[in-house]
Amino acid sequence: MGTGASAGVASGLSACSDAELQACLKDIPREQRDKVVEALKAAGGGGKRTAVLGANWKSNPKTSAEVKDLAAAFVNQKFDRSKVEVVIFPTGVHLMALKQQLGDSGIEVGVQNISKTGMGAFTGEIPAAMAADLGVTWALIGHSERRALYGETIDDTVAKLKNAQEAGLKVMFACGESLEEREGGKTDEVNKAQLEPVLGLVSDWSKFVIAYEPVWAIGTGKVATPEQAEETIANIRAFVKEKCGGDVADKVRIQYGGSSSPDNIEGLASRNGIDGFLVGGASLKPTFTGMIEYLTR
Ligand code: PGA
Repeated sequence: MGTGASAGVASGLSACSDAELQACLKDIPREQRDKVVEALKAAGGGGKRTAVLGANWKSNPKTSAEVKDLAAAFVNQKFDRSKVEVVIFPTGVHLMALKQQLGDSGIEVGVQNISKTGMGAFTGEIPAAMAADLGVTWALIGHSERRALYGETIDDTVAKLKNAQEAGLKVMFACGESLEEREGGKTDEVNKAQLEPVLGLVSDWSKFVIAYEPVWAIGTGKVATPEQAEETIANIRAFVKEKCGGDVADKVRIQYGGSSSPDNIEGLASRNGIDGFLVGGASLKPTFTGMIEYLTR
């Protein structure tokens, strides 16, 4: 496509909100709706952003046998990659075994933490280029546990982004406020401070995803309300627009993370502008497939 007519359709649709588009499409039979969404995508606008679902396994599970069992549960889940990209971030030691077990399921593998340096005398680090060489396709950068427990600074996240991009990796870039910061009315300020230095460096917006993860919701079972998640993500998108323009803001995928699970996905995913999830605890259970299934509907 890409003709004058389709560009016109796309620019007209960009004036519609996601909610307005969803309302228009809601009563159309499934098959026709899928065709409309595909046509909108081909026209370069309107259609929904492809969701991204990340499974952050952190330093889990304990054994390689458990990795195998989880992989076996996930590979059987059919999903449509044009609707959702799925990536698992295991520990470095489980990367290759998991990658092999996932085979051609379409589920990708990412590193939880890549080096801010390259090859050479850097004991204990995983350089981005080496991860890419193994067929790893994603890097998680800026997770709050890295920032809070291992002293990862904003400058470090910048260096890591540069390395990841240079190696061709897709990046899931996490940001988010602490409880104290939320209660002090500083949520947007914190997100802006963490994002500002990296936004101008992004070389390919189809390969850069923002994971908004309020620190107080991570691993606590205290999930943000759909209203809180929607509002903060809208503010992040407005900041991206201010810094990088409307086209980029329309395009960039922004996930929610923090105690999300198959039980609460519906309330969150139905909100405007939430383009997927970064999932910790719930991704260590076979029932995680429910989230894949939900996003591929
Ligand atoms: P959680 O972790 O889903 O267990 O809260 C999310 C994350 O840390 O990415």
